Amino acid sequence: MFVHIAGTGSYLPKRIVTNDEIAQSLDTSDEWIFSHTGIHARHIASDDEQTSTMAYEAAVKALERASVKPEELGAIIVASSTGDYYGYPSVACLLQGRLGCKRVGAFDVQAACSGFLYSLRIAYGLMQTDPRPVLVVGAETMTRTLDWKDRNVCILFGDGAGAAVLKADDQPGGILEMIIGADGTANPPVLQHTGGTLIVPGDPPEGKLRMNGRAVFNFAVKVFDEMIGEMLSRSGKTYDDLKLVVSHQANARIIEAVARRVGQPMGKFFLNIENVGNTSAASVPIALDEAVQRGAIQKGDLIASVAFGAGLAYAGALIRW
Ligand code: ACO
Repeated sequence: MFVHIAGTGSYLPKRIVTNDEIAQSLDTSDEWIFSHTGIHARHIASDDEQTSTMAYEAAVKALERASVKPEELGAIIVASSTGDYYGYPSVACLLQGRLGCKRVGAFDVQAACSGFLYSLRIAYGLMQTDPRPVLVVGAETMTRTLDWKDRNVCILFGDGAGAAVLKADDQPGGILEMIIGADGTANPPVLQHTGGTLIVPGDPPEGKLRMNGRAVFNFAVKVFDEMIGEMLSRSGKTYDDLKLVVSHQANARIIEAVARRVGQPMGKFFLNIENVGNTSAASVPIALDEAVQRGAIQKGDLIASVAFGAGLAYAGALIRW
């Protein structure tokens, strides 16, 4: 049995905030942000949009393109660190309710920016014993976790959702290799203190995302390169066999550094960060959907997808589309 991505969908909020707009109230500039990250603008959820409503918009498109009805699903998995509620109910249960498919199992996965590919791995495992289709969504409202006075962090992120419907069949191809990994040994370089159970005397929970960008950057380049190398070697393939690398869009410079390291043209690496920013767990499925809609991925293409982020967690997939 093979597991294929049968349909993708994505959603970005209407409101676009440019670097110039941010620079009106922060000591930064479009020139600095673009040259250091590749970002010009990001989408920001309106007050009546939540992680679950954006997840719904992306999911409906993916289900339609996969010709799967919500009630036919075996499970709904949502990757998110910015759920509508702190703790519960999960975004996946809220999404299941909106889709109207009572009884379908629904749960969230928290692996920060790697969450969508972690969820793909879990879906793949579930489908080995229950071949019904699985809906996997990455959805985030990152901008509500930002300190808009912290120029090191707030310029990086945006909101949105992406979705994929997995179907099992006998047609060879689909998901060929997957990796999930983590390194929790270091002092967390990315963290959000939102009233978790950790007690830090004299350090009240503040709920804003803090990050040591340089540490994450160096880690990202290393695991990005290693994951693709490992998946290609496991499957007896090389970079020449790859049509496209669709990675987490954290910083265009991370992707450029990997391209230089492995001696491949930038054209082999999908980029949409310029107008989307870093949408954490939504980043990979939004990029996948955009690549499909633009015709950059065609049936039969070999593609690699990798993600990395807080944890530090990382994940990858090698897929014959
Ligand atoms: N505008 C102007 N200047 C700035 C800005 C800004 N927005 N941000 C930082 N600077 C300044 C700094 O203050 C510093 O000034 P100084 O030298 O006077 O102290 C200088 O620019 C250089 O700062 P660095 O942090 O060294 O800049 P760097 O080139 O490393 O870029 C960045 C920072 C963009 C954050 C980069 O490190 C990065 O993208 N890291 C990866 C982030 C990432 O991938 N995160 C994913 C995880 S997120 C998650 O999991 C939820």
